[in-house]
Amino acid sequence: MKIAVVGTGYVGLVTGTCFAETGNQVTCVDIDVRKIERLQKGEVPIYEPGLDVLFDRNVAEGRLVFTTNLAEGIKDAKVIFLALPTPPGEDGSADLKYILKVADDLGYILDQYAVIIDKSTVPVGTAEKVHAAIVKNAKVDFDVVSNPEFLREGVAVEDFMKPDRVVVGTSSEKAKKVMEKLYAPLVRQGNPVIFMDERSAEMTKYAANSFLAMKITFMNEIANLCEKVGANVDDIRRGIGTDSRIGKRFLFAGIGYGGSCFPKDVQALAKTSKDYNYDFRILQSVMDVNDDQKKKLLPMVETYFEGSLKGKTIAVWGLAFKPYTDDIREAPALENINFLLEAGAKVTVYDPEAMNNVKGILGDKVTFCHTPYAALDDADALMIFTEWPQFRTPEFEKMGKLLKNKVIFDGRNLYELEQMKEMGYTYYSIGREK
Ligand code: UGA
Repeated sequence: MKIAVVGTGYVGLVTGTCFAETGNQVTCVDIDVRKIERLQKGEVPIYEPGLDVLFDRNVAEGRLVFTTNLAEGIKDAKVIFLALPTPPGEDGSADLKYILKVADDLGYILDQYAVIIDKSTVPVGTAEKVHAAIVKNAKVDFDVVSNPEFLREGVAVEDFMKPDRVVVGTSSEKAKKVMEKLYAPLVRQGNPVIFMDERSAEMTKYAANSFLAMKITFMNEIANLCEKVGANVDDIRRGIGTDSRIGKRFLFAGIGYGGSCFPKDVQALAKTSKDYNYDFRILQSVMDVNDDQKKKLLPMVETYFEGSLKGKTIAVWGLAFKPYTDDIREAPALENINFLLEAGAKVTVYDPEAMNNVKGILGDKVTFCHTPYAALDDADALMIFTEWPQFRTPEFEKMGKLLKNKVIFDGRNLYELEQMKEMGYTYYSIGREK
């Protein structure tokens, strides 16, 4: 099948590459000339494990090509994915200007039936707006389908190639057949393609992300209470996660959720509720608790240093909002580092992938180190914000010699309490005894 993907951001590039891998002829379109030039040269602009291998193969075999020209990109395409940014506006609602601009252009240039697919996370009613923008000038028949994406950064290729489910919102039988054919290679193990109307598909995406954000937030609150009552959140997680109605995943308490999706989507769903005069109380609580959770370790640090961080050096391990990504959007580390700097501390940092992105924001305000141990040299304490695997079993003895004080503030509960005690560390974590 001939496919066009408009927007070569994270979702667009993974979508395009993976559909090329299943044998389709894919053209990715973007208005960013430099990005397209890089892609044409074979450079993958994002860090995503496994993507480069698929990308190289499909580019080499001619199934994956790039252009800045929309009309050229959609020529002969049976399906056209819209994977464009929907940044939050000031009031929290998603800004649709990029999607509607492309929809408007499509109205003029479509010259045969095509299925236009909203892949971006878009508010309820967007498929209708996209339809209206195209139909104004369209000379041919077309369908607009909502097909939200559920992939996680860091495991995006795997999530895309083996989805738990595919959600498709369409009221057109013709479009349904096209979508069934497109996704058939990805659901061979029997995972469902779930058809519904457009609005329900749009709502499904927000419900999924908000539910997961709520699940994490619930555990963060349990963790906070565990600290007060003297219980251990790790045990609670095991104790409840084994109940199949609850499930084991997304129950890890920590320093709060971040990233480009959960914060934005919870906020957008809250805005939608408000627009429809529904007071969705849980969502507000989720946002409030998460804001506080991100700052959770700071009072512990302040108390440890008896109220003043002036002149102290704090080492930070982990800048990305989660492992296997260089994405620092809404990452708890940044907020914490800014607080430390304002309090007069010096900050040394290490992250295996995200340092370049942070350099762009913090410049020389912090010291970037080439290894986790270099960040510890002469530091007064260590704070951990991302659970990169290499932080899980570090050389504690070496760390103890480098650090001025054997103290760790761990926002990801990486280490065993007993072990830390035996090694003489003062160890703060989330929802467990000190
Ligand atoms: C999330 C969803 O998981 C995807 O299904 C969805 O497609 C995507 O948003 C999107 O809307 O595009 P992502 O933001 O890549 O994916 O990252 P997650 O792995 O979901 O993690 C989100 C945040 O929750 C991270 O900050 C992570 O550290 C935190 N988290 C996750 C916890 O604090 N505890 C957990 O148990 C799990």
